[in-house]
Amino acid sequence: MRVKDKIVVLTGAASGIGRSTAILFAKEGAIQILSDISEEGLKETLELIEDRKDKTTIMKVDVRNPDEVKNMIDSTIEKYGRIDVLIVNAGVVRVGPIETFPDEDYDLLINVNLKGTHYTCKYAVPYFKKQKSGSIITLASVAAHIGQVAHANYCSTKAGVLGYTRALALDLAPYNVRVNSVSPGATDTPMLQGDVAKQARDRGVTYEEVKKEFEQEGVMGRWATPEEIATGILYLATDESSYITGADLRIDGGWTTQ
Ligand SMILES: NC(=O)c1ccc[n+]([C@@H]2O[C@H](COP(=O)([O-])OP(=O)(O)OC[C@H]3O[C@@H](n4cnc5c(N)ncnc54)[C@H](O)[C@@H]3O)[C@@H](O)[C@H]2O)c1
Repeated sequence: MRVKDKIVVLTGAASGIGRSTAILFAKEGAIQILSDISEEGLKETLELIEDRKDKTTIMKVDVRNPDEVKNMIDSTIEKYGRIDVLIVNAGVVRVGPIETFPDEDYDLLINVNLKGTHYTCKYAVPYFKKQKSGSIITLASVAAHIGQVAHANYCSTKAGVLGYTRALALDLAPYNVRVNSVSPGATDTPMLQGDVAKQARDRGVTYEEVKKEFEQEGVMGRWATPEEIATGILYLATDESSYITGADLRIDGGWTTQ
């Protein structure tokens, strides 16, 4: 078991990449605090964690709310005395041309993807500094590295996550705490499915047509499974990556190498 009895806090655990990560970390022996804004989705994730339900806590947390995030971190410390791995995964996507992009959608992107990342790290960092060990993993995206049509607002938040992660890695290196990001390419989750459906509607083409375009972005010609992203997150959580900090692991099927 690669993360046996490690204390892991994971946001966005009710769906997609977060859910697959929770299932993988459970198999690898972690003690987990799984949070999300969706309580229903969290319960479904818990059901999928067959043999480690007793080592898993689910918690309804909106990462836009600093009090709720602080409570998630403080209650974890109260119960376990430490956090070994923090996975900052909760995220949202909204797409569309900037001329008509609703301000409230941009606020949502900034508040969840950027400020949510900040709050999650902010309240955990004092404990990481004290314990002088640990690994923080954020979720950036290919959208942090390259432009995507109709994604200017989303891209700006994910590029922000990348910058935030790099800078935090410098702050925490003296404390033996590693901070890295993962940048998934097109990954088959409800988020991407919703993104493709909206683009199809906006452009008056079929879902399958837009899906094919996305599939061709990576040189491997297919989407990733969420499990393929979870394995990268797991690597950055273990001591196998003990000399890696400030890095971004692109799991994008070659999308950004072209
Ligand atoms: N799917 C992709 O193609 C892709 C590509 C690159 C990056 N990403 C990133 O990976 C991460 C996971 O995405 P996914 O594809 O699994 O998406 P998803 O929509 O399947 O899951 C995201 C989860 O975040 C939760 N969430 C949303 N707002 C929240 C909030 N305010 N507080 C707490 N939880 C909240 C949702 O309820 C959901 O369970 C995101 O940060 C996303 O930007 C995804």
